[in-house]
Amino acid sequence: MQVNLQRHPIENVETETLIVPVFQDRKDDRFGLGELYDSGEIAGKLYEMTLLHHAPGVKAKRLLAAGAGKPEKFGTAELRRLAGAAIRHLKSKSITEAALFLDAPQADSEHVAAAVEGAILGGFEPDRYKTDKNNNKSVERFSVVTPGGGPHLDAALDRGRIIAESQNFTRALVNEPANRLTPTVLAEHARQVAQEFGLEYEVLDRDRMAQLGMGSLLGVAIGSAEPPALIILRYKPAKVSPGAAHLGLVGKGVTFDTGGISIKPADGMEKMKYDMGGGAAMIGAMRAIAQLKPAIPVTALVPAVENMPGSRAQRPGDIVTALSGKTIEVINTDAEGRLILADAITYAQRLGCTHLVDAATLTGAVVVALGHINIGLFANDDALRERVMLASRAEGEKMWHMPLEDDYKDYLKSAFADIPNVGGRHGGAITAAMFLKEFADPTPWVHLDIAGTAWLDDAKPFLAKGPTGVPLRSMVRLAMEWEP
Ligand code: BES
Ligand code: MN
Ligand code: ZN
Repeated sequence: MQVNLQRHPIENVETETLIVPVFQDRKDDRFGLGELYDSGEIAGKLYEMTLLHHAPGVKAKRLLAAGAGKPEKFGTAELRRLAGAAIRHLKSKSITEAALFLDAPQADSEHVAAAVEGAILGGFEPDRYKTDKNNNKSVERFSVVTPGGGPHLDAALDRGRIIAESQNFTRALVNEPANRLTPTVLAEHARQVAQEFGLEYEVLDRDRMAQLGMGSLLGVAIGSAEPPALIILRYKPAKVSPGAAHLGLVGKGVTFDTGGISIKPADGMEKMKYDMGGGAAMIGAMRAIAQLKPAIPVTALVPAVENMPGSRAQRPGDIVTALSGKTIEVINTDAEGRLILADAITYAQRLGCTHLVDAATLTGAVVVALGHINIGLFANDDALRERVMLASRAEGEKMWHMPLEDDYKDYLKSAFADIPNVGGRHGGAITAAMFLKEFADPTPWVHLDIAGTAWLDDAKPFLAKGPTGVPLRSMVRLAMEWEP
């Protein structure tokens, strides 16, 4: 999708389709809309779409009155979704060009970026492997139109484009099936990103990881014929202030999770291709970070493995030694995410990361706790948690702060090793986070359990079914707003 910014009064916008937000409980008298409010045909309810031809008072060929809901609830998150919903509506009508008008007080940087993001994200379809794309039209050109405003708005448009294109890149990766996206192929995608946008790229192979002593990660990888990869992408700002923070972004990269010997039920197992959603989000975040150039260094680490059963696979009861030196009793081979993250977190510390955020499709329990709405956020540090929370709120990626208290340590006791890889039946998302904390401490760290939010089981008005790309936008903002 081509995007651009134009500055015109609303009457003069020349476009196939002028998208105008209209509100609930606030009758709009422009362009003949008043009559439709009076007749009840327009109520301004969220995502209600009304397409009109030859609307009076505009040059545009068509006008799409896009229901924006209650004005007091309308912020950038709602605008992002509304732009997406409008694009998806127009797509279904085979319309290929549109312009969204932002009037004061919405004609500012944050709104311009959100509108572009929503449009690009709404345009994405996970249809790469459909050979007949005739039924899937796309909006090819999209403009944001404001009555005026300085060059900061052009920068905002660019930023929104870069972020949303990166998020769609992540969504496409997540949607790749596991026969086509192995750990090796994921590393190759990361290498291409590094080459195209100027990042340092490094990959640790099985031998190197064995040499270093990453027994926890390798224990998971051993069941698969596909070799593991620890993917590393580094961004360095032009000048690094001494003592500056160094952000580490760690993402779970299980390209397929069968559960291993503790095998999962067949029902729904096909979805376990999205078990690398955290890793893909961190690679996508680096794609944006490379272009937007924050002031602090950022390093992404993605432990990539396939979790398979087989004659060489690790067994329940096996004891592995992690890179940190801690021994782990593998009670359940399906709790593999924390095993690979443990070694990646330790390695991130060794690379000098002063602050860590991990994103992982880690537990079914977080879906029970929070549904598909909120990411589960766990933290060992209040200041970093606040930074991540602020970023997530600004980006409309909901996160809910979950407990991580020493009392829960009682749930993680092994008779034979330092720590088991699972707790009891209760508080599954918390015990998973407690396990990671054993490796993250004392580095300030936030853990994001995205098992419920990385995948949409049904399309939303503003987003296709499938991968969402969370928490990419929050990670980019976290890096961008960090002053060294
Ligand atoms: N990848 C899964 C978690 C998951 C579940 C992601 C549903 C997305 C949707 C993870 O590796 C896993 O299998 N977790 C187990 C842990 C259990 C064995 C303690 C789970 O949640 O059942
Ligand atoms: Mn698993
Ligand atoms: Zn998993």
